[in-house]
Amino acid sequence: MKLWGGRFTRTTDRLVEDFHSSISFDQRLYKEDIAGSIAHARMLAAVGLITPAEGEAIIKGLEEIRADIEAGRVTFDVGAEDIHMNIEKLLTERIGEAGKKLHTARSRNDQVALDLRLYLKEEIPAVKKLLAGLQQVLVDLAAQHLQTIMPGYTHLQKAQPVTLAHHLMAYFEMFYRDQQRLDDCLDRVDVMPLGAGALAGTTLPIDRELVARELGFKAISANSLDAVSDRDFVVEFLAAASLIMMHLSRLAEEVIFWSSEEFGFLELDDAYSTGSSMMPQKKNPDVAELVRGKTGRVYGHLMGMLAVLKGLPLAYNKDLQEDKEALFDTLDTVKGCLMVFTPMLATARFRVERMRADASRGFAAATDVAEYLVRKGLPFREAHAVVGSLVLHCLREGRSFQDLSLEEWQSLSPLFDNDIFGCLEAEACVNGRNLPGGPAPEAVGKAIERAREILAGI
Ligand code: ARG
Repeated sequence: MKLWGGRFTRTTDRLVEDFHSSISFDQRLYKEDIAGSIAHARMLAAVGLITPAEGEAIIKGLEEIRADIEAGRVTFDVGAEDIHMNIEKLLTERIGEAGKKLHTARSRNDQVALDLRLYLKEEIPAVKKLLAGLQQVLVDLAAQHLQTIMPGYTHLQKAQPVTLAHHLMAYFEMFYRDQQRLDDCLDRVDVMPLGAGALAGTTLPIDRELVARELGFKAISANSLDAVSDRDFVVEFLAAASLIMMHLSRLAEEVIFWSSEEFGFLELDDAYSTGSSMMPQKKNPDVAELVRGKTGRVYGHLMGMLAVLKGLPLAYNKDLQEDKEALFDTLDTVKGCLMVFTPMLATARFRVERMRADASRGFAAATDVAEYLVRKGLPFREAHAVVGSLVLHCLREGRSFQDLSLEEWQSLSPLFDNDIFGCLEAEACVNGRNLPGGPAPEAVGKAIERAREILAGI
């Protein structure tokens, strides 16, 4: 007999039973479900809806069930549909009559909303911690590579020299915003929905604030219809997770081409690379590629969830059951990616000589030469044109800035003097950019200091 079987005369079709049951995946919420039920039972006893003895029997029964689940002694029943009814059924089998009172003034609709919120209240800080671990590696590497000159790119064309420290700290900033987004999301997760009932609350004299206090929530939901049908907080988390993955994926992409023979900026540790079954010489950046690939599946969950929600009338609809697999898989994916990406990056060896050599190849100092002319009084647009023709001249002759004599410089503009040669070195290009947010070692040193303060607070 189903817990809800009273108004039915025939049993559920076997196919339907399997189709609508969520126990295979929502058993992951058992701890939250039990914590929510214990708080609910305490409240029921406090307001006199059940006796203190019934309250105690329920709580003891639930704690034993939790221990049994953790010890692997519980087999869940697909017929009992989901984690909520499985636990209620187990409880009533164990403690009898009192168990039947647990669901007083409650619905699975507010119960599942509660469970998910409790679950994310635990998981968001766990993701934040893993992310902070990666940020720590970025900061440590940056501190080691303050003076490591590398080419900076736009359009993947060599643009201006930067340092590896500055490049890595750019990712620190991205992940810092991701941290803030997670905090922000957590703020809206931290709302207690119990008491909303199925959709319209209850006629019984419950105490919602007491439940919220018991469970450590900052607030209670303000509208019962909203409380049972809202999954914005899931979408927000999936969006925050998508951005983390997007940032990881961009860094993964750079790791991939930096480790190519053509770039040669980085060599991954053997422990974080893989070989080929056919080509004996290969060493592949599979970890970074998989992280890049798994980004797509997290985006998929975000899009999927938005699509599930878009046409739903108030209040609860069974469509909402689709939230859980999307959320769980996203959590597993993001945490799994962070866990392996962090040591992969920490153990990578940067080939600083290659980076340095590449940074002075080409015309990476062109903007600096133009700014040299600006300092001598030439309007920037004119300086740009002068240096442009200089580049063209060099390209035609197969030479670089460094090869030009002072006479050649001066033939293009009398403003050039001996001090132009000092402007051409990549170190000078980088050191000259000592503005807040710039790549000069001093500026990046300050960014690193700030980053360390931020990390100490996470
Ligand atoms: N398993 C359901 C879910 O995940 C729990 C809520 C079911 N409520 C209902 N009225 N069918 O959403």
